[in-house]
Amino acid sequence: MKSNIDIYFFSGTGNTLLVARKIREKLFSSGYEVNLFPIEKSDPSSVNVNNTIGLGFPVAVQSTYPFVWDFIKNLPEGNSTEIFMFDTLAAFSGGIVGALKTFLLKKKYMPIGAEEIKMPSNFLTVSGNPEKNSKKVEKGLEAAEKYAEKLINNTAKWRRIPILCRILFYLGTNKSVWKGLSEKAALGISEDKCTKCGLCAVLCPVNNIEIKEGYPVFSKKCQLCMRCISFCPSGAILKSGKVVKSYKAVKASEFS
Ligand SMILES: Cc1cc2nc3c(=O)[nH]c(=O)nc-3n(C[C@H](O)[C@H](O)[C@H](O)COP(=O)(O)O)c2cc1C
Ligand code: SF4
Ligand code: SF4
Repeated sequence: MKSNIDIYFFSGTGNTLLVARKIREKLFSSGYEVNLFPIEKSDPSSVNVNNTIGLGFPVAVQSTYPFVWDFIKNLPEGNSTEIFMFDTLAAFSGGIVGALKTFLLKKKYMPIGAEEIKMPSNFLTVSGNPEKNSKKVEKGLEAAEKYAEKLINNTAKWRRIPILCRILFYLGTNKSVWKGLSEKAALGISEDKCTKCGLCAVLCPVNNIEIKEGYPVFSKKCQLCMRCISFCPSGAILKSGKVVKSYKAVKASEFS
């Protein structure tokens, strides 16, 4: 790897942020200069293809969020640029590791490692209890450290693509699937609980929330990253009119 490593990551509720930080910490302790850049605040065309690049994101619908894919698709052409990826997930993904490798090879990048790291689920009501979740985080961060060691020792791998993954990739990147999910989630608020603090609008990575007369109004670009629901200080954001369990691994201020 080059001595300068730029990691572009997205994290809805903090799992991927914790993993990205752990990888940076390990690489840094071995002498690498590592920058972390949030994807939602980064311009893909300004990525420096002379450095080693890292990509990190949560798995969503077997793949990842459409705006993360947009970022990746708009990366500049590589210069045999070494690139590695990591994702965090609750259980299983099939539609990202292989598809991303194929895409990056076509774009003249050199894939050097891919790792999927299990962390607690942040998906609505399936979020587990806090004790179990902190154990999962601990294990996830151990896995992140081991992955960073493999990157340093040049033993990381990026595995091949079973045929089933093409179907999962298609599902996970299909616009109608995402539109359907977002419509079904139908995010809204409880005006009784909302304190008009505006935090949800600041945190939304795709500017899907506008504040009107103090209250948030949701547009149609929602990617279901869970950030607004998880970090609303009053638990005022509802899914289909109902309160949902939320999960977060960091504080809201860690996204700014
Ligand atoms: C809309 C949505 C879809 C998800 N889809 C999957 C999935 O297909 N497979 C999986 O294992 N986990 C899935 N998850 C769980 C997340 O990938 C996992 O909790 C991740 O660590 C969250 O990372 P973050 O805290 O950085 O946002 C999904 C979560 C959300 C919100
Ligand atoms: S973060 Fe919660 S309390 Fe603050 S404006 Fe949004 S919905 Fe209302
Ligand atoms: S509206 Fe909420 S769940 Fe949807 S993309 Fe924005 S922060 Fe994420």
